[in-house]
This record gives sequence, structure tokens and C-alpha cells, in this order.
Amino acid sequence: MSHAAPPPVVVPTIAECRRLVTEARASGKSIGFVPTMGALHDGHLRLIDACRRHCGFLVTSIFVNPTQFGPNEDYQRYPRTPDDDHRRCAEGGVDLIFEPTVAEMYPNGPTATFVEVPGLSSVLEGKSRPTHFRGVTTVVAKLFGIVQPDLAAFGRKDFQQLAVIARMVHDLNMPIRLLPVETHREADGLAMSSRNRYLSADQRRAAVVLSRALQTAAEAVASGERSADRVRQDLAQAIELEPLAQLDYAEVADAETLEPLDDLSAGRPAVALVAARFGDTRLIDNTLLPTVTSESSCN
Ligand code: PAF
Repeated sequence: MSHAAPPPVVVPTIAECRRLVTEARASGKSIGFVPTMGALHDGHLRLIDACRRHCGFLVTSIFVNPTQFGPNEDYQRYPRTPDDDHRRCAEGGVDLIFEPTVAEMYPNGPTATFVEVPGLSSVLEGKSRPTHFRGVTTVVAKLFGIVQPDLAAFGRKDFQQLAVIARMVHDLNMPIRLLPVETHREADGLAMSSRNRYLSADQRRAAVVLSRALQTAAEAVASGERSADRVRQDLAQAIELEPLAQLDYAEVADAETLEPLDDLSAGRPAVALVAARFGDTRLIDNTLLPTVTSESSCN
């Protein structure tokens, strides 16, 4: 949605960000926050739009956080599109863009102090990316400390990230309400991601296998499939049948603990999660599975 409000103020320093947020709060406004790494797409605009509805002053951060990238990951080539990002933030009605440098966020180099959520951070994505969530929770904790939002929006596309951040907020008693926002998809179902722009035309066509496989899994559960293992195998097989996809994982897990599930009729909320590479580009996606109770499984 396009807003006729004044363009956002862009600040690179923590001090300026704090000053403007303090002013907004003193004028009685609640603070909403959408942390991003830039390369904004329509999925980010959904986050901005959802957050905007619940706050009086909306802050977005744009910071490609080096500590959440592994040594052989795409930190250097991660897309940086500041002008386009500022335009999109203006369209979304963002009031303040916090766009720090690496030196501003990490003046002493990679920080010696980490915030880490063990367990939840080491499964799924954490197996392929062992230091990723430690980087995410550390930077998000720093950003929360700088912006001190009342409300912060995160996309369900990064399901595990949301679970890890929710646990951090809970365990550290951070007075912040999290706003989960549904995954925004391209017309063919591909989940929007800043990394989609790395895909060649062929890889882009192939990548739709992820959302299709997940949709088939959700349909199978809705039609009575109760074996998580069967759903897992079918997901993996569907992705492996796509020649341009290299499967990393296909998992069916408890949506709160992310522990693998066996029986879908145990009444626990379940989520199917997948990750695969298309050339050098690693994509993830997920879907919540229809809730099954032992009563409905007897039918
Ligand atoms: O989801 C992202 O874009 C990043 O992981 C986040 C939350 C902005 C932290 O760098």
C-alpha cells in the first residue's frame, strides 16, 4: 500500500536512532520495528504493512549482518539495493530507517558477546549453518536494545528464525510483542526471498518444486495421512525428482519445539520444512500442516 506520508528519515548511527525513537515515544507513539537485511521485496512490504497497523511510529533497519553468514556463504554478494529499499520504505509508510555500517554495529570487530538459543538453533538450518542463528539472535538482540520497540514483525517464511527469536524474547524477558506475518508468495507459489534474484531462469522455474511439494504434503495430511515419516519421504522424493534441486532437508516437526514428529495424530501443531540448493542458491520454505486430533484420525 502506498502512503502519502513524508519520506522516512534515514540514520546511520545508534545515537540518532535512539534520539528519534525517544522523541516519538515521548509524543505518545508506540514503536513498531521491522528488521531487514535490505534487498526489500513485496514480502518485506507485507511485514511493514502489518506492523504499521499496530504502531504509531515505524522503524525499519537495513543491515546485512556479517555474523549470521558462514565463511563460505553469500555475505559479499548478498544484494544491496539501498535506493530501491528507501523508496519501498517510503511507499510502506516507514518513519525511520536505521541503516548502520558494520563498524557502527560491531566497533570492536565480530562481537565477543553472543546471544545464543541452544537446541532450537542447532536443528534444521542450524545443521548446515552452525553459527547462523547465533549471529541472528545477537544482532536482533542488539537491534532490539537500540530501537526498543513495543512490537516487531517477522515473516513465517523463516519459520525457525521466528521460533528462535520468540524463545530469546521469552527467556530474556524482553518486553516486545512479536508479530508473525504469513509468507508472501509469487503467483506460482514460490516464497518471496531476497535470494530468489540469484536464480537463473531455469532454476527459477525449478524452485517452485518446494512450495508444490509442501502443498501436496498439506493436502495429504488433510486427506488422512497420519505418518510424519511418509510425509517426510514424499516431500524429499518430490524435491529429488527435480533435476536442478539438491535437497538439504525435508522435515516434519513440532511447530513449537521443532523436534521431529512421528505421529501426526498426537494433537501437536506440526510444520513441514524444506531446504534445497538450486546451483549456488539455497532456498527454504515451510507450511503448517492441518491440525489432526486422535478423534479426527479415527474417522
Ligand atoms: O530475516 C532477516 O532478514 C535477518 O535474519 C534479520 C532478522 C534482519 C537479522 O539480520
